[in-house]
Parts: sequence; structure tokens; C-alpha cells
Amino acid sequence: MGEPRMEVRIGDIAMKNPVMTASGCFGWGEEYRRFFDLNLLGALVGKAITPQPRSGNPGVRITETAGGMLNAIGLQNPGLDGFLDSILPRLQDLECPIIANISADSVAGFARLAEALSAAEKVAGIEINVSCPNVGRGGVEFCVEPPMVAEVVSAVRRVTSRTVICKLSPNVTDIVAIARAAEGAGADAVSLINTLVGLAINVHTRRPVLGNRTGGLSGPAVKPIALRMVSEVAAAVRIPVIGIGGIATATDASSSSSPAPPPSRSAPRTSSAPWPARRSSTGSARSSWSSRSRIFGS
Ligand SMILES: Cc1cc2nc3c(=O)[nH]c(=O)nc-3n(C[C@H](O)[C@H](O)[C@H](O)COP(=O)(O)O)c2cc1C
Repeated sequence: MGEPRMEVRIGDIAMKNPVMTASGCFGWGEEYRRFFDLNLLGALVGKAITPQPRSGNPGVRITETAGGMLNAIGLQNPGLDGFLDSILPRLQDLECPIIANISADSVAGFARLAEALSAAEKVAGIEINVSCPNVGRGGVEFCVEPPMVAEVVSAVRRVTSRTVICKLSPNVTDIVAIARAAEGAGADAVSLINTLVGLAINVHTRRPVLGNRTGGLSGPAVKPIALRMVSEVAAAVRIPVIGIGGIATATDASSSSSPAPPPSRSAPRTSSAPWPARRSSTGSARSSWSSRSRIFGS
């Protein structure tokens, strides 16, 4: 029997397997080089890039919860210029595609980021993180209203020929309507889910644990919610759906690509640590995916 076929295509990005890192869960990738051969990945997705540098939220920024964690990092990053000047040059030798995750507080900010990043040859795709406040709308998050999502995706689509992925938030009333809006505005794929808003209380101080008060819940605890949403979205759109949320093992990844009727639209994205990614692209995990290899194509 030959090697199982793991290739997938998301927009114009040809990936040798469907395993990607989740934004913010894998640094810029380079931090993991000494633990892990990054070229085993189907694609590398880095931390969010914003127009200007951000130092992030005051601490505490991370706290453990049952089956997961809450984070309120606050999009700490060196900004567009910092990424292009200092980080991207260090990733030039990577063979796997690089997808830039972008965040902004205005439609124009998203477009500016997408245009500048698309000029960099090494950037194969843009993932739009719509889970951020729209300053022009009084701080309402872009992700909650289909027209706002459509506006951002259209603006990005206009300035780039790179693959455009819209990353959806689970903190919405109807994620299917949001996914359809992204598709209608020209997204090549959607990825989901981002973190769920949560709160942890220090019972001794009776105060929130996180400096930001609330944070985003991630990890194994969110997997059933992610699976439900991936399934609903995959049934409603024709573009590829990238599954994220609680994927820590090859079995998690496999289940993340299973519940989507009709098949063939869901690719799992693993996160949290490099180990699942390594297991997913080598060795025994392959056999569990091979019987499903057909479901990864777009
Ligand atoms: C510490 C941390 C930082 C994150 N930063 C980003 C980010 O910059 N942009 C983004 O789109 N998602 C970000 N996320 C969300 C993840 O990419 C992912 O959608 C979420 O954590 C669910 O996946 P998981 O359960 O596998 O962690 C972050 C998550 C964590 C835990």
C-alpha cells in the first residue's frame, strides 16, 4: 500500500498536509525550531499582526481552568513594520507556507495590513482575525455582525490576490450567518473557532484573576463547541473550513475533520504545543487520517 495522501489546497495554498498552527499558540514559529522541524507543518500561522506595535494587556494574562485556559494577552506584537523587518526575514528558509494573522480596529487598518503583507513574497495567505473592536462603531467587535465581517473581508479581498481566510468567533448569535457573509465577500476559506469569552475569580480576593477581567477560553474544554460550529458552518458554505479548538492529538484532529457534512471541506488546525503537530504529520497518526484523506480537500 502506498503512502496516504495528505495534501490539501486552501485557496491558492497547496499544503502537504492539513496541519496548521493556531495563531498565538506557536509564537512566530521560530521559537519552536529547536524542538520541532517546522517544515513538517502544512502551514505556519503566526501571532496576530496589528498596524502598530502593541505591548498587550497588564498581567495576569493567563490562568489555567478545568480542561483549558483563559488568556488575555491583548494582541502583543511588534506591529506591521516590526514583523516585516525583524521576524519575516528570519523565516525565509521555511519551506512550509506562512499565513499572516491580522487584527485592526478599522476596515482601513485591515486593508493596509493585508496590502503590505501581500507584497512580501513569503506570505502565502492572510487570516483575518475579526475578533477585535471596530473603533468606528463604538468598539463593537467586527465578528458579531455579518455586514461588518463582509466589509472587512471585501476590503482585504480588494487589495490582495493572496489566499484570504476569515477567522470566526464563537461569541456570536449565529456563526453560520457570519460564515456566509465572509464567503459572500470573497473569503477563500473560514477558520473557526477563536476563543470563548470567560471569567476566572480569585476566591480569596473576590476579584477577577486576569488583569483584563475577562479572557478567551481555549484548550480541550472548547473542543465540543468547536466541533459543533465547524459542523454547522461546513454544511452551510462551499469554501474550505479550517477547524480550530481543543485539538491536541491526532484523534482530535481527525474528529475535527469528520463531523462536517458533506465531507471534503474541513481541515484541522492543531495548536497549544508543537507535539501534536509533529504527531499529526508523522508516524502513527497518518493511519488514522488516511482513511479520511479524501475529506481534507477543498
Ligand atoms: C495565548 C493565546 C493567544 C492567541 N492569540 C491569537 C491571535 O493573536 N490571533 C487569533 O486569531 N487567535 C489567537 N488565539 C486563538 C487561537 O488561535 C485559537 O483560535 C484558540 O485558542 C482555540 O484553539 P485551541 O483550543 O487549540 O487553543 C490565541 C489563543 C491563545 C491561547
